[in-house]
Amino acid sequence: MNSKKKKLKLKKKNLFILLIIILCIIGTSFFLINKETNSKKTVSNSKNISKRKENPKLKELNYINEKLDYFKNDYIDRYIAYKKANPSLPLEKVIINVNIGLDYPYYENVHESKYLNTSYMIVNKYNSLSKDYIPKDLEVIDSQYSNGEKLMVSYAKEAFEKLASTAQSEGYTILAMSTYRSYDYQNSLYNRYVSLDGQAEADTYSARAGYSEHQTGLAADVYNKEKSYTEFENTKEFTWMQENAYKFGFILRYPKDKVAETGYMYEPWHYRYVGEEIAKYIHEKNITYEEYYVKFIEEKK
Ligand code: DAL
Ligand code: ZN
Repeated sequence: MNSKKKKLKLKKKNLFILLIIILCIIGTSFFLINKETNSKKTVSNSKNISKRKENPKLKELNYINEKLDYFKNDYIDRYIAYKKANPSLPLEKVIINVNIGLDYPYYENVHESKYLNTSYMIVNKYNSLSKDYIPKDLEVIDSQYSNGEKLMVSYAKEAFEKLASTAQSEGYTILAMSTYRSYDYQNSLYNRYVSLDGQAEADTYSARAGYSEHQTGLAADVYNKEKSYTEFENTKEFTWMQENAYKFGFILRYPKDKVAETGYMYEPWHYRYVGEEIAKYIHEKNITYEEYYVKFIEEKK
């Protein structure tokens, strides 16, 4: 053999060895990854099985705890009772409604609102604010877009001004007529309504002091200047708001078909700033802020 041929043979041999080494590495990695995934699966399966054994009540709930990450083990008895009382309700809705608090009468089993001074805080008949809660960074809305001096939290105010000026440029008049309300002001408002209509009636349209979203500085009641706010539903501005409010981060907070869930009668004039992403989701899915909150905010933020 001449030396050229010898070199070529050596090269071929080295290449072959390299190929074998590469194949070995790939094979081993594959094996290791597979082993890890399988062992993870086994751990989670055995966890679920042991959980199933631990609590036979989960069977009554079709083990929905394994599917919903907002399922609360502490609420199992409440879920079962609510399911019995509402047999036609889908199980997922049972979990959502109990998490909202709807298995208790309004104003019972109340918690203090969490996430104060954020755009995703919730205030309703189960989540309240203290007498001395005053949101940070309240600012006066541009007088072009309000009826008198009205305050909102700075970022909500900016979003509202953008909404109102866009509406104006398209030929619509949207003015804020009631925005931030202090605890004391809400108290006098509510008491006035109670003296006029009685408490049961007043509770359908007015929040008790400490329970009003207006105390967050994130809500605005609007009108079009021509008609009273109670007539807002019958204006072209309302149609515009239905199509556009979410683009500026606002949601219709008390929709017609969600009275039981929000605890308030339909309020076509009441909008709440939640930010553009959340507003878009709520608009598209047609859900309440209560539902969004228990699914995505309550335990996750
Ligand atoms: N009208 C709304 C529910 C309030 O009083 O806050
Ligand atoms: Zn309102």
